[in-house]
Amino acid sequence: MIDKINDLLRRVEAFKPKVDNEIEEFRIRMLGRKGEMNDLFEEFKKVAPEMKKELGQKINALKNRINEKIAEMKAAAENAETTAQSQIDMTRPGSNDPIGSRHPISLVKNQIVEIFSRLGYTVAEGPEIEDDWHVFSALNFPPEHPARDMQDTFFISKNPDILLRTHTSSIQVRTMERQKPPIRVICPGRVFRNEAISYRAHCIFHQVEGLYIDENVSFADLKQSILYFAKEMFGEKARIRMRPSYFPFTEPSAEVDVSCNLCGGKGCNVCKHTGWLEIMGCGMVDPNVLEASGIDSKKYSGFAFGMGVERISMLKYGVKDLRLYFENDVRFLNQFDSVY
Ligand code: PHE
Repeated sequence: MIDKINDLLRRVEAFKPKVDNEIEEFRIRMLGRKGEMNDLFEEFKKVAPEMKKELGQKINALKNRINEKIAEMKAAAENAETTAQSQIDMTRPGSNDPIGSRHPISLVKNQIVEIFSRLGYTVAEGPEIEDDWHVFSALNFPPEHPARDMQDTFFISKNPDILLRTHTSSIQVRTMERQKPPIRVICPGRVFRNEAISYRAHCIFHQVEGLYIDENVSFADLKQSILYFAKEMFGEKARIRMRPSYFPFTEPSAEVDVSCNLCGGKGCNVCKHTGWLEIMGCGMVDPNVLEASGIDSKKYSGFAFGMGVERISMLKYGVKDLRLYFENDVRFLNQFDSVY
């Protein structure tokens, strides 16, 4: 029996836990009800009486040593933990989780909306899938107009004609049908045209159109509102000019140019050496359009305007290729948040 005790003592001294929970396993293996110490006590009951004193002392010493050893191992484990913790350098800079940035289209769209909201415009929205009435007929498009052709517009069905809206003017029609003048709305949204993708065209792009209807609204009001917008968007030095144009839904109609903000109007590559950049179409709402939506054209007049958000963004930031807005390359996208 003495050999057994010595052997166990040797194994206790040699034991080294690799992970912390091995300490508890060790305790159970040694001191548990079916553990090695228990076996020894069982055996001790059978030893001759004259041996009891010496063996009893040895067994007790062994048991004490095991308890001591367990306490030592626990203390060592705790110590290791606190050292590991104290090795964390709290003054090191944290790791930066990348945060996304707003898309430049959203930034510029929000900015356009914000500028016009200062003039009292509220935002109106409408469906991207539209019927012929709201995109074309109510807006005075003649039956043979090329926009009604499959070449130019994405049709979902013909007869009845259901299509992807080609401009957000459809929202203006819906607003006029719903609301009595005075009307002052700004209509942002995605529009679709059947065009080949290039550096300056895309089959999907974004527009913001505006509509103002009240008594005695004049072309002078239109011009002043657009000038205010141009200065807010492109800077205090911005000037505008209007060139006569044509749209089925406005009469008279105009294209608006803003003085080139990159060369200050002197002429550069971006403005093709003209000093001017085209930014939008506009005009006085055609009386036919007012009447089609149930508004008395004798009493009311109004103006409308519409611009492409990508185009405004390209001109403002000197972006040369429209496709960049759709590729979602973060190296392009995250350059804008700090700008606005
Ligand atoms: N709807 C026109 C377009 O998409 C823009 C426009 C709106 C022109 C309002 C004049 C008045 O091109």
